[in-house]
Amino acid sequence: MGGLFVKKDLGRLIADANDPNAGEGGHGGGQLKRTLGAFNLTTLGIGAIIGAGIFSLTGTAAAYYAGPGIVYSFVIGGILCALAGVCYAEMAAMVPVAGSAYAYSYATMGEFIAWIIGWDLILEYAFGAVTVSVSWSGYFMSMLSKTLGIHLSDTFLRFTEGPWGNLVTLSTGQQVHGYWNLPATFVALVVAAVLYRGMRESALVNNLIVVTKVTIVLLFIILGWAVITKANWIGDPSAHGLMSLIPPPGPSMRNGVSFFSYGKAGVLTGAGVVFFAYIGFDAVSTTAQECKNPTRDLPIGILGSLVICTILYILMALVLTGVVPYKQLGVADPIAVGIDRIVELRHWTPAAAKTFTLLVKLGALAGLTSVILVMMMGQTRVFYAMSKDGLLPWFGRAHKTYGTPHLATVVTGIFVMACGGLMPMSLVGELVSIGTLLAFVLVCLGVPILRMNNPGVARPFKVPGGTPGAWIIGLTGAGACLWVMSGLPRDTWLRLIVWLIIGFCIYFGYSRSHSRLRAERTSA
Ligand code: ALA
Repeated sequence: MGGLFVKKDLGRLIADANDPNAGEGGHGGGQLKRTLGAFNLTTLGIGAIIGAGIFSLTGTAAAYYAGPGIVYSFVIGGILCALAGVCYAEMAAMVPVAGSAYAYSYATMGEFIAWIIGWDLILEYAFGAVTVSVSWSGYFMSMLSKTLGIHLSDTFLRFTEGPWGNLVTLSTGQQVHGYWNLPATFVALVVAAVLYRGMRESALVNNLIVVTKVTIVLLFIILGWAVITKANWIGDPSAHGLMSLIPPPGPSMRNGVSFFSYGKAGVLTGAGVVFFAYIGFDAVSTTAQECKNPTRDLPIGILGSLVICTILYILMALVLTGVVPYKQLGVADPIAVGIDRIVELRHWTPAAAKTFTLLVKLGALAGLTSVILVMMMGQTRVFYAMSKDGLLPWFGRAHKTYGTPHLATVVTGIFVMACGGLMPMSLVGELVSIGTLLAFVLVCLGVPILRMNNPGVARPFKVPGGTPGAWIIGLTGAGACLWVMSGLPRDTWLRLIVWLIIGFCIYFGYSRSHSRLRAERTSA
């Protein structure tokens, strides 16, 4: 029946991707439609990346860990993701199948590791969508009450937080647990409906959202850049322009402010926190079977979105810490604090200030929506691929008319709606980071392993530097991800372990005996 680490043949994996009948043993049926080009893939990446990380976590990371050095945290996060990004690009162009990291590990490290990574990707994509839906709810409520002045009755208020989420403050000042986070459930329902309808429609909705959110981000950067107070960065008012970002020689602390206010270790911790903001570029690779020209366009989509977002993040962090003293940024909506300060410094009228604040909050809401969209989309494609291989039931069916993995979409939608209704962002957010990092480790290791085991396979995109480059980048990327993982709290590790144990039970209870590859090896 084959060992635990039975491997899929690479050529077979690629052939399966184009075979509508693959996995017909009860799970197949229908094929995904090829509708996506390089532009849509890049916007899907941006759609998945810019979200709760930049709109919420940047402030916390600056206020409590990195100070103005949060800019360097973003640079470090960007480099780490670039290492993983080029590895994803090589894999995705070589093996353009829907399962992404799950499928690559099936060919490189065998079925059991592939199962672990497929199960782990649920943490990244499904729980990622849950985290961002809860953040969406927070921004929505803040817009209703603070910007539009609409105050809900106490009964309704208790339907804006889950029972395990933050406490709700009633009109009497009493703090109580909520019943259900209805806004989070609502946004997941709408997104699931769009995804069910079709990839072309989903990409169109995503494009509209991406244009909106990038415009808002650019407006924030442009309007804020002119009113930056350099003393908020390093307190060296004599330096000009970008020169003031370079810490001066000797003691760099002036007036208690420095680019390394919390020391260099704080910058590294900050990198671990803002890593969440980069998650999502890899989701592009899950659409491989829906791309018109995957070998060319997937690397463009993965790396293009990563580069654009890294630049935007660094500029945003510069503006945010340049207009607001970093200690004031430890709030759930730091960008709103930044806007308030920008309009104050620019002496806008209250009406103009209110309109701008409303626009930015709408942009943030739109931005969060596209993250949920792409994360849920990634989850459904991974379920689809796992089911095609027989490791999961049902999900491998594609809708005959819409060409979407509709059953996987329904199940993912219900899961995100339920968890978003019940859970707090803090609990799920770190699980998402650890799950994603684990996937990155395996993809980074997979690149040199495949170079060794399958040197002859066509690689339309290659990690730079030839075979030594593949080893250096693969091992450095995996090491860097493991290092960030090591900084995550013990509880998060425990939850990861519990999650993996549940996965092992399902694998040995169901998947192993239903594996299509094993069945073939047995009958051969
Ligand atoms: N990168 C995504 C976000 O920040 C997950 O919301």
